[in-house]
Amino acid sequence: MFKDTVAVVTGAASGIGRQTAIEFARQDARVVVADIDERRGTDVVADLKNDGHDALFVRTDLTSKADCKNLITTAAETFGRVDVLVNNAGMEISTPLHEMPVHEWDTLVDTNLKSMFLCSKYALREMIEASTGAIVNVCSVSGLVAWPGIAAYNATKGGVMMLTKSLAVDYAKYGIRANCVCPSIIDTPMTDVSIGHDAAVKEQKAKLNPIGRLGTPEDVANAILFLASDKSSFITGAALTVDGGYTAI
Ligand SMILES: NC(=O)c1ccc[n+]([C@@H]2O[C@H](COP(=O)([O-])OP(=O)(O)OC[C@H]3O[C@@H](n4cnc5c(N)ncnc54)[C@H](O)[C@@H]3O)[C@@H](O)[C@H]2O)c1
Repeated sequence: MFKDTVAVVTGAASGIGRQTAIEFARQDARVVVADIDERRGTDVVADLKNDGHDALFVRTDLTSKADCKNLITTAAETFGRVDVLVNNAGMEISTPLHEMPVHEWDTLVDTNLKSMFLCSKYALREMIEASTGAIVNVCSVSGLVAWPGIAAYNATKGGVMMLTKSLAVDYAKYGIRANCVCPSIIDTPMTDVSIGHDAAVKEQKAKLNPIGRLGTPEDVANAILFLASDKSSFITGAALTVDGGYTAI
């Protein structure tokens, strides 16, 4: 489905991003894996190459303007184009707002929101030139409803939601679409940090979803690939929930 497509995936050393990179490669895309975690990022690319796929790792601190610019420039120089950008990398900090040091707020905003502005800024230039492109941002149900205890995280995801809609509105005329996915709790290393490894706790969280289980990285990657593909060519500015029905209640 993605033959000759160049897909840049941020935060692709782990969890949802890693699975998204794998699914793009399985669909014949050339994949650029961007992450601050050099060891796990190079492992992902080595595995993809071993399976016969075309992939590249670019070590990127997504809070750095220079690194984001280098990521997109390297992708375009190596593969000749940037067709798809998946702004996936993110982090969660759960300090209550009244106790949160300003530097924690800044780190969250820089990682979860500013990174998506920076990568989009440079990728849009390539996409405008090509008169085509698809941006998929990984938002959260936290961009739609306030998840308790993670106010600053919720605020960044609210920003991702409106960034996505604004990209859709302003860049449709260039043939560029922008959408986001809104997962509820997905079983990834981030979730292991936030809710721990306790199976009973995971089961309790799973019950919040009418479907009765936690999401998998594959569940989210499949939605991302749909929004990046021509099968969604009339869809832009959308927020696709991948939440087992969590926000339908
Ligand atoms: N796991 C969930 O339950 C869940 C739910 C909703 C939304 N999300 C969102 O999905 C996205 C991916 O989450 P995940 O669960 O796969 O997390 P994860 O922790 O498994 O992976 C996140 C990746 O982002 C990378 N990263 C973090 N900061 C970076 C930086 N400054 N520069 C470069 N790379 C950086 C990490 O190294 C890591 O490889 C995030 O945006 C998260 O907010 C996750």
